[in-house]
Amino acid sequence: MSEIILPPNAHALLNSVRSVGYSLETAVADLIDNSISAGAKKISIRYSPHDNPYVAVLDDGLGMESDELTSAMRHGSKDPEDARSVKDLGRFGLGLKTASLSQCRKLTVISLKNGSLSGRCWDLDLIAQRKDWVLCVPETEDIKLLPLADDLLRQGQGTVVVWQHLDKLEAGESSINKALGEKMDIVREHIALVFHRYISGDPITDIEKRKELKAPVL
Ligand SMILES: Nc1ncnc2c1ncn2[C@@H]1O[C@H](COP(=O)(O)OP(=O)(O)O)[C@@H](O)[C@H]1O
Ligand SMILES: [Mg+2]
Repeated sequence: MSEIILPPNAHALLNSVRSVGYSLETAVADLIDNSISAGAKKISIRYSPHDNPYVAVLDDGLGMESDELTSAMRHGSKDPEDARSVKDLGRFGLGLKTASLSQCRKLTVISLKNGSLSGRCWDLDLIAQRKDWVLCVPETEDIKLLPLADDLLRQGQGTVVVWQHLDKLEAGESSINKALGEKMDIVREHIALVFHRYISGDPITDIEKRKELKAPVL
């Protein structure tokens, strides 16, 4: 018998996975699951429809060092048959990537753990151009310009997931400003419903619309 190693075509696979059936609210909920699994006590969601629109989720969970972050960005980062901790809400090692890329063309995750700040980014346009699984490693100065990076540094540990190039959210909308505002209202309601068990006293989520803040292009 001979063998052929046949990895999937990166761009074709990622494009198909984009239509797997997430809505904005279920995609955000998947990120919140990850934050809760990472022991977060506070989770903030921020978005902006201006200039370079984004949706970003910050948590104060355990965070990831650079190797852990690279693994986390891998599609199928964990075996569903492996034993999981009772706190771990994830299973297939896909949620972060598929939920995010169902809503945006550019997913950046930055994380701070043990004083080390790391960032990794999947950019569907770059993957289409290079026809390979090219994971970007942004420079520290660029990481610091991302939405909520300041807050992450101030917290001292945690993770920020940033969605940019929001093509799915912009599709068919004449005003991204109005559309994003309306869609984030639905997100707020969905989160309140799904995570009510986790929300006690102070609201776990603080959805904030920042008009002035500009998200940089990495
Ligand atoms: N907010 C976060 N904080 C810390 N680690 C995270 C966070 N989000 C994701 N991760 C890490 O990335 C891995 C992959 O996440 P994901 O793709 O959602 O798959 P799953 O949740 O099934 O493991 C997680 O198992 C976890 O180790
Ligand atoms: Mg998950």
